[in-house]
This record gives sequence, structure tokens and C-alpha cells, in this order.
Amino acid sequence: MFETTLPDGAQIVVRPIRPEDKPLLVAGMERLSERSRRLRFLSGVDHLSRQQLAYLIEIDGRDHQAWGVLSDDEPVAVGRFIRGAGDDAEVALTVVDEWQRRGIGKLLLEVLAVGAEKVGIRRFMFVALPENTGIRALLARFGVTGEIEDGLLTAYLDVSSVAESLPHNSNRFSEGRVGRAGVVT
Ligand SMILES: CC(C)(COP(=O)(O)OP(=O)(O)OC[C@H]1O[C@@H](n2cnc3c(N)ncnc32)[C@H](O)[C@@H]1OP(=O)(O)O)[C@@H](O)C(=O)NCCC(=O)NCCS
Repeated sequence: MFETTLPDGAQIVVRPIRPEDKPLLVAGMERLSERSRRLRFLSGVDHLSRQQLAYLIEIDGRDHQAWGVLSDDEPVAVGRFIRGAGDDAEVALTVVDEWQRRGIGKLLLEVLAVGAEKVGIRRFMFVALPENTGIRALLARFGVTGEIEDGLLTAYLDVSSVAESLPHNSNRFSEGRVGRAGVVT
């Protein structure tokens, strides 16, 4: 867990998701616009089913890691990866609308990359709707464009390239509190 300040001066807390965070996940979902929910879940989901909620909260800290962002104890964002085949893990990022484009998506990606390296994940995979300009812009910061097939954008990002983009935060992430990502339960 750590506190940080966004470029616009807003204070946030970043911490691992815990089993008791179900109400926060539900509240965060309610704060998302219809468009953001569709971009995140690739369809018109308006609420999480009990099974989805259980899946999203059952985090083993190795094959599935998830971090939440809070502002004044209110949910602002979630980032997670779930291991797939081999050294790959699929990433999902969700930032509440009024907090988008303030640097949280990139920050979460960096936090996830630190945890991923510790558990041997080398590549992040993203599956998104082609009209998702936000994720495309974020990936473009790492030189990734992805490919569109069957109406979905799939993109791969080397975890090491995210870690390399951490000039000022690297010490804090690797030696500090975020470094515990690999043992989050
Ligand atoms: C996609 C998403 C996670 C991006 O997170 P974010 O916090 O808004 O992104 P950041 O503020 O870290 O932006 C990173 C860069 O991309 C740019 N960017 C972000 N969204 C953008 C948009 N919609 N259009 C153009 N550029 C955008 C930012 O300006 C920033 O550029 P910079 O590094 O030059 O300053 C967020 O918009 C979101 O949650 N969307 C809804 C759910 C979703 O689509 N999830 C992705 C599924 S994998």
C-alpha cells in the first residue's frame, strides 16, 4: 500500500484488493459510465453478477493480482492481471470516468508490472474494443499498437518495457511497499 500524488495534485491511495473489498468493487462499478463499463467488459454489462464478483475478488497473489486506487476512501480505479498461457497474463484496467486521463491507468500498469516480474510473467495481453481510444493511447506510450481481428483489438506488451519506463518511481516500487505485490493474498 502506498500514497501518491497525481500530476494534477490529487492524492490517492494504492493498495492490493482484499476479499472484504466486494462493496468497493460494486460501488466503483456504479460510478462507471455506460461507455466505460462497455469498454471494460466488452459488452453492455450494467452490474457484476455474484459469480463475476467472486472471481474478481478471489486473488491468489501469484496468478491473479489486483490493485485498487482510492481517493478519500472512495473507489477510483482497479488494475489486475490474470495469468493465461505460459508467461502471459491478461490485464484489465478500470478507471472511474472523472479520474480518467489523470495518470492512474499508467500508474496501475507500472504497479502491476512490478508484481508480474516477481512471479515470472513476462508479457501482458490486452483485449479491447477497437474504439477504446484510452487503452490505445496508453499502450501507444509503450510503442504498442496491437492488431484488430474479429472485431477485437489484441495487444501484447513486454513487462520489462513497463519496468524500464519507471525512472522516478522505480526505487519506491521495487524496494518499497509495492514490492510486496508478489505475496498479496
Ligand atoms: C483505458 C483506461 C484504463 C486508461 O486509464 P487512464 O487513467 O485514463 O490513462 P492515463 O491517464 O494513465 O493515460 C495514459 C496516457 O494516455 C492518454 N490517454 C488516456 N486516455 C486517452 C483518451 N481517451 N484519448 C487520448 N489519449 C488518452 C493520456 O493523455 C496519457 O498520455 P500522456 O502519458 O502523454 O500524459 C481508462 O480510460 C478506463 O478505465 N477506461 C474504461 C475502461 C477500459 O477501457 N478499460 C480497459 C480495458 S483493458
